[in-house]
Amino acid sequence: MGLCHQEPGRQSSRSRRYLCTLRSLAGILIDMSSEQHTISHELGRQEFGSPEYTGVFPSREDAIALMKDWVENPRLQLHMMQVGGVLKAWAEEKLSLDASAAEKWEVAGILHDADWDKWPDEHCRKIIEHLESQGCDPELLHAIASHSPSFFAVTPVSTLDHMLYAFDELSGFIHAVSLVRPGGYEGMKVKSVKKKLKEKSFAAQVNRDDIHDAASRIETGLDELIQFISNHQPKISLE
Ligand SMILES: [Fe+2]
Repeated sequence: MGLCHQEPGRQSSRSRRYLCTLRSLAGILIDMSSEQHTISHELGRQEFGSPEYTGVFPSREDAIALMKDWVENPRLQLHMMQVGGVLKAWAEEKLSLDASAAEKWEVAGILHDADWDKWPDEHCRKIIEHLESQGCDPELLHAIASHSPSFFAVTPVSTLDHMLYAFDELSGFIHAVSLVRPGGYEGMKVKSVKKKLKEKSFAAQVNRDDIHDAASRIETGLDELIQFISNHQPKISLE
């Protein structure tokens, strides 16, 4: 999930209710508007993929191609590139991971919302099942599956899981802050981002609970996360 691609009405509840109208095969209109039902995004499992595919994942180029094939919304495309970019930077600068591992982190970000545009009701089951059918690294799959624990009911475990969760909403929020500042990211201060977080009316669709929950699960504080994103995000663009 994330700020830039959420539509009004999609953001208020983790367990969204839908009014639906079905047309029967006989052409009789059956109005089910009085029978609200809940669509659950819970994935119902904690294990994804197979160990035999450890280290196997789409290249950065292939991930971007898949993302662009599935996602039409350019704001969502940018959000996914931004999350991927900050994950890659974190893997390289903070964890000194090698090039292949850093690419896996970036690909997790690039693909984490890949199915939101076309199949919002199947988010993120669709992308997980697609990657599983291709044979994909279990850690990458688990990171995508756990990027919103309250939505998918999958608990973050690995460092990649935790950092994707930590960067997702916060990256979108900081991008929103940049859009209302005359200088964009230039001179952005941690203090002013935190002040905006307390302003409930600003970027109201961003889930503050997720931001604070994600930060509470890792040793890195919220200030450092904000500083890191605001330093690296301006360098990331659509390709
Ligand atoms: Fe997202």
